[in-house]
Amino acid sequence: MLTDPGLAASVQAGLERVERLLHTVVQSDFEFVTEASLHLVEAGGKRIRPLFTLLAANFGDADEDDVVTAAAVVELIHLATLYHDDVMDEATMRRGAVSANARWDNAVAILTGDFLFAHASKLVAGLGTEAAEIIAVTFGELVTGQMRETVGPKPGQDLVEHYLKVIAEKTGSLIATAGRYGAMFSGADEKTIVALQRYGEIIGTAFQISDDVIDIASPSSASGKTPGTDLREGVKTLPMLYALEEQGERGERLRELLAAPITEDHLVTEALDLLRESEGLERARKTLYGYADDARSELAYLPACPAKTALEALADYVVDRSK
Ligand code: IPE
Ligand code: IPE
Ligand code: MG
Ligand code: MG
Repeated sequence: MLTDPGLAASVQAGLERVERLLHTVVQSDFEFVTEASLHLVEAGGKRIRPLFTLLAANFGDADEDDVVTAAAVVELIHLATLYHDDVMDEATMRRGAVSANARWDNAVAILTGDFLFAHASKLVAGLGTEAAEIIAVTFGELVTGQMRETVGPKPGQDLVEHYLKVIAEKTGSLIATAGRYGAMFSGADEKTIVALQRYGEIIGTAFQISDDVIDIASPSSASGKTPGTDLREGVKTLPMLYALEEQGERGERLRELLAAPITEDHLVTEALDLLRESEGLERARKTLYGYADDARSELAYLPACPAKTALEALADYVVDRSK
């Protein structure tokens, strides 16, 4: 993604500063809080959101200290939502490690998420009221998306439309803010801020579609999560919605299997096998490619530079990881 050596070195240095900040803010005089917080910080993770903030900052003055703080805020909010999401999804694996709810229990996972939100808020307070308002609105959108997914579509509502709204809110919103923050705190102009925010919202939506393809198509060794989690939760993702529209025996059997959350392992395996060979999976990939193209076209306004090349490569990465 980072082919330019100068950009690679500066982004690497920025990410190391973000990492140090993440470790600093979770320090508590009650050691267990720190241990539970560090569990997922140290389990890894792709750090896509802070990476995007740092790249976006290259359209202004990338060396501003507030850029690093903003990048850490976005990762902390993301991390907190992962602790909570794994409780909601009853997930047992995250970032290749056992999830916090499985390692301890739901109470610990929820409280750790809250602790991380608290410290994200503390950090953002140092960035000023505009940044605080932006992250508050973003977080409200993200939670609304999670709620919209939990409640499910209204009777008669278009299922794909509902899905796309959910993922723009739960995933697109925070990735959009990651880009907006990077541009803002580097002092970029308004049009640049808007372009990076819009790119982020669209690439974030694409990123969630690829995550939903991966939940079906990839082994846990690749994703660090348990495949079929969406099936077990009864969440109908885009590849499933498309596969459910298919005629014939496979479509018929999938409609039976996906009528309710699947609890039995052999039925999850059967559904995954059918979905993997379905046209729905390929159709979802095509939709994802469309979003990645749309995201790339939002970059048109930006001047040619290594950071722009990196954002184009980020769009390629989102596509490639679903293959
Ligand atoms: C997982 O996000 C949740 C989604 C929005 C798909 P990531 O895939 O960015 O998770 P980490 O941070 O790399 O673990
Ligand atoms: C998670 O969505 C989105 C947020 C955490 C806001 P998913 O439930 O699809 O993500 P994974 O697959 O658990 O990472
Ligand atoms: Mg989940
Ligand atoms: Mg979820």
